[in-house]
Amino acid sequence: MCGIVGYTGKRDCIPILIEGLKRLEYRGYDSAGIGYFDKDKLAYIKRKGRVTELESLVEGGKIVSKTGIGHTRWATHGIPNEINAHPHFSKNRDILLIHNGIIENYQALKKILINEGYKFESETDSEVIVHLIDRFIKKGYSFSDSVRHTLIEIEGTYGLAIIYEKEPDKIIAAKKGSPLVIGIGGDENIIASDINALIAHTKQVIYLEDYEIAEITKEGILVRNIHDIPVEKEVIELSMTVEEISKGGYSTFMLKEIFEQPDALTNAMRGRIIVDEGRVKLGGLEGIMDRLYHSERIIISGCGTSWHAGLVGEYMFEQYLRIPTEVEYASEFRYRNPVLSEKDAVIFISQSGETADTLAALKEAKTKGALCLGICNAVGSSIARESHGGVYTHAGPEIGVASTKAFTSQLVVLALITILLARRKELSLTDGRNLLTEFQSIPDKVRKILELNNQIEKIAEDFKNSTNFLYLGRGYNFPVALEGALKLKEISYIHAEGYPAAEMKHGPIALIDENMPVVVIAPKDSTYEKIISNIQEVKARNGKIIAIAIEGDDEIEKIVDYVIRVPDTIRIFMPILTVLPLQLLAYHIAVNKGLNVDQPRNLAKSVTVE
Ligand code: F6R
Repeated sequence: MCGIVGYTGKRDCIPILIEGLKRLEYRGYDSAGIGYFDKDKLAYIKRKGRVTELESLVEGGKIVSKTGIGHTRWATHGIPNEINAHPHFSKNRDILLIHNGIIENYQALKKILINEGYKFESETDSEVIVHLIDRFIKKGYSFSDSVRHTLIEIEGTYGLAIIYEKEPDKIIAAKKGSPLVIGIGGDENIIASDINALIAHTKQVIYLEDYEIAEITKEGILVRNIHDIPVEKEVIELSMTVEEISKGGYSTFMLKEIFEQPDALTNAMRGRIIVDEGRVKLGGLEGIMDRLYHSERIIISGCGTSWHAGLVGEYMFEQYLRIPTEVEYASEFRYRNPVLSEKDAVIFISQSGETADTLAALKEAKTKGALCLGICNAVGSSIARESHGGVYTHAGPEIGVASTKAFTSQLVVLALITILLARRKELSLTDGRNLLTEFQSIPDKVRKILELNNQIEKIAEDFKNSTNFLYLGRGYNFPVALEGALKLKEISYIHAEGYPAAEMKHGPIALIDENMPVVVIAPKDSTYEKIISNIQEVKARNGKIIAIAIEGDDEIEKIVDYVIRVPDTIRIFMPILTVLPLQLLAYHIAVNKGLNVDQPRNLAKSVTVE
């Protein structure tokens, strides 16, 4: 959460910072600010609200500076207002700082600083950092040593960028727990929370690691760790393009990303399937394959949508691998002192690869000796780098806050891992071939479902005034019910619950009346008859049913109010199809209500704080 960007170089930094902040806005959007050099003095402009508010104040070359920093905020400490927006000034207004993360011991530090005469303008935890730096500078330390000593005193997480009046062409950046990447240009260097903000300027980057501090000028980048030891950094060449992070003719990123799914899934499979041999190849698992194969237990961990993907993974692994599998919320797992050993494999799923709880859970599992794998979308992200091995989803950048193509790509990767291991276990060549042949047809089936967009848009119109929704599914489609409910609540602000269909009788059925829409995922599998009984139970109480059924199921429309049909497939792949109408339904209900689906209130794309 929070996006940070900084530029030093030969060009005017203001348009670069504004453009960078717009690209990072998905990380937080309750206020924004920039800090820069106004001749030889530091200055800032900050505003409550979106980056466009800020942009209107600096447009047309009103301000010109060659070095500056920018921030878009997702509030943690202190309400979203102008005072709490970043940057924050030091006492003498000669240091400016932006921060992404949480300082856990800020109250104790604040007390000490107040006793020493420091005055706080904001309610943020971040402000203590700038005053601590000031305190070290006053004691005679250099700018960079003052930052380093400050970082030794603070507990918590940070991605930081700081500028100091007496060293005008320099940005000091530091990282612990929050991402930070440095883009290397000719006569200029850029820092940002992620590569989206710098890809338009350079493809050569350095990822800063925890406890590293970088001194950045237009001439070069000097990285040291918190113990003042110089660190050699590897320069990485990015393959992402600017087109991948623009809307490409769609009205929203979310719609674009929903429609990108056929290609995203093809990319997730590309080069990994050998149909003739009924086999899967995953380069990122090769070095750890034996250990994974011999694991006695698999734990899958993640948050939100990624956790839902993990639940589908549990069904896959237990059906095909017969390995006991558990799924854990990363936030609970990390603090529960989980029982783990080297016989366990833990798979961490994360689109961003930066979710604080998932990253901390990974570190905990590593400490306890478990084999740790990552399923990430963001290449080079912290979770990908920390894992012993892993598989990228290759879905391309996901900018809409509600996860769509990342989820279905995660399901593809989980299915690939399942088939890879199953072939080493009991899955025969013929069964492997059959599974993979069907798997390859999934992107086309997805394309077909997306053609139902207009039908789903019409259905959505009837529900824009609903205040509650229930989503029901069984087996592989129970996690899909959870995911459908999450999509609806996060972008339309309608309360929604996902349930295993049979659980309805144990409580939620009390909610059902003529005002309660119930979305039922009802493919023709072994639980079909049972789910039809659940539908009857809802109908008997006048609930309105939207059924997700398979093509050719003509019976279901006699008992439900709306039917959305998806092509049939094998059970393991069904969630990839059944979730699509739910993404579109949530999307159109939210758009009908006039809401901003890409940046729903209170949310941020990458949750890098606990
Ligand atoms: C929901 C959503 C969130 C994320 C969750 C984990 O649409 O986007 O629930 O799934 O914050 O994020 P990652 O996958 O980046 O770890």
